[in-house]
Amino acid sequence: MPSTYQHDVLIIGGGAAGLSLALRIADQCSVAIVSKGPSKDGSTYFAQGGVSAVLSEQDSFKSHIEDTINVGGSLADKETIKFTVEHGPENIRWMQELGVPFSSDIFKSGKQLHLTREGGHSHRRVVHAADATGKAMSDTLENHARHHNNITFYEHHLAVDLITTEKQGYTDGDNSCIGAYILDKDSNHVETFKARFVVLATGGASKVYLYTSNPDGSTGDGIAMAWRAGCSVSNMEFNQFHPTCLYHPEAKSFLISEAVRGEGGKLLLPDGQQFMHKFDERGELAPRDIVARAIDHEMKRLGASCVYLDISHRSPAFIASHFPTIHERCLQYGIDITKEPIPVVPAAHYTCGGVNTDLNGRTDISNLYAIGETAHTGLHGSNRLASNSLLECLVFAQSAAQDISSDIKKPYQQRTISNWDESRVTDSDEDVVISHNWDELRRFMWDYVGIVRTNKRLERAMHRASLLQQEIDEYYSNFRISNDLIELRNLTLVAELIIRSAMLRKESRGLHFSLDYPVANESSIAKNTVLKPHHKSIKEKVKIIK
Ligand code: FAD
Ligand code: SIN
Repeated sequence: MPSTYQHDVLIIGGGAAGLSLALRIADQCSVAIVSKGPSKDGSTYFAQGGVSAVLSEQDSFKSHIEDTINVGGSLADKETIKFTVEHGPENIRWMQELGVPFSSDIFKSGKQLHLTREGGHSHRRVVHAADATGKAMSDTLENHARHHNNITFYEHHLAVDLITTEKQGYTDGDNSCIGAYILDKDSNHVETFKARFVVLATGGASKVYLYTSNPDGSTGDGIAMAWRAGCSVSNMEFNQFHPTCLYHPEAKSFLISEAVRGEGGKLLLPDGQQFMHKFDERGELAPRDIVARAIDHEMKRLGASCVYLDISHRSPAFIASHFPTIHERCLQYGIDITKEPIPVVPAAHYTCGGVNTDLNGRTDISNLYAIGETAHTGLHGSNRLASNSLLECLVFAQSAAQDISSDIKKPYQQRTISNWDESRVTDSDEDVVISHNWDELRRFMWDYVGIVRTNKRLERAMHRASLLQQEIDEYYSNFRISNDLIELRNLTLVAELIIRSAMLRKESRGLHFSLDYPVANESSIAKNTVLKPHHKSIKEKVKIIK
């Protein structure tokens, strides 16, 4: 039988954003952390390069702010950037107090954090734990959370949809989030989770593309759930492609950190020539959009399957200490990076757009927060500065926790919630429809809505996304839900939001590049692409009966 659970704060997502928020609030209330797989299934665990923060005397907030604006362009929100950058150092100190083993150098004056460099940064300011920063952060945060009496983990649980007062038919007061329907993947029942506050910390949506650096669960669930509940989203056309993912038939989604270029790695064509200087005077350390487009251009020009990244001029000891994970992983595929260049290709990496929030992570719906990659705070504008994402996770987890804690003790109205109804659905007999549509979606998004776009490609993609949506909606109405169906449903919706946003932007800016409008339209003031859902269609698609 399906059960009902009740917590003060329901956090959907166990990455850097979700875990940090849980730890910052749990002394005051009961917290649930829900994750699709085991915890550590999100992007956080795989993060390599590090977290950017102003920690050296040569650096300054002004410089970090300027670098973020230079990369993010005029859409980057200056207030959000200042807020995030200024809260950086205290969040790194908090991580150190929790025990994250960041790399450091020993000087006569004592131990100091080692700061690495990445594209777009004018100073060394990336704090890291060798090349496995995400693992170090996840392990530490999770370890603390597991030992906290007020935190309960629900692993192998998939949030299907948010529960709002409006969807439940309440007409008094603002639309407010009061919980979520969550599929227990072991029992296959959809449970009702009631909560005073719900936080989406569900990560990004890069799995919408055929090639990605992200783990399987980056399917934009939080963005899709928020949209269906009535939240606006912004800037979904800005999808960041990381220039250097390992190119090897057996390597799935393995990133070669930008820190490799930060420490002197050179990009080479198959004939051994360097090429980045032809595209940008900053060469290998130009911002990611420029480097990814340059690689894409050269690969298409030469008909090459990959380019190469060479760090073999650094000493084997340096490579082994700075990039142990990358070194070891490449060795598994027969590539010794101390002696030879690494074959690399660009792949979808980061979702700059997302659910609109304010500086406290509040969305358009009362009591619903969004933090981390799923949110659009304005920090990244049209392109994200390397290592600003983990920083954003930490800073907005902190501010959302403060905001929630100021309201948590206030009295509130408990609502009755209808259980999930499965009386009118049957088991699917054609799961091939789901696997086929997964492949089709990711392939046309890669081919038509990738690094370089055109009007025609976007129209083609929109046509296909609409057909897929109809088919998936029908499937969703008639058959019992599964993990793959829910993820596909969300990805198809997110694909539509990306294509619609890309169609609205009739210029090239940051990560959105169109051959039909190859330059930025500087004659008008740059605007965010804001999409708002139509409430009628939301209600029609809700699968509950009163
Ligand atoms: P995630 O860490 O992605 O966690 C999402 C969580 O939500 C998971 O627990 C997942 O199970 C859960 N979830 C999702 N949907 C549901 C659902 N429907 N129901 C239940 N649970 C759900 N950024 C940097 O700043 N520095 C770096 O060095 C860096 N390196 C990176 C390297 C790689 C390979 C990748 C992929 C990304 C990297 N990034 C880096 C980006 C950064 O890691 C992510 O943006 C960030 O970790 C996102 O954290 P998050 O907490 O928002 O989400
Ligand atoms: C990397 O290590 O290259 C990833 C850094 C990031 O995505 O910010």
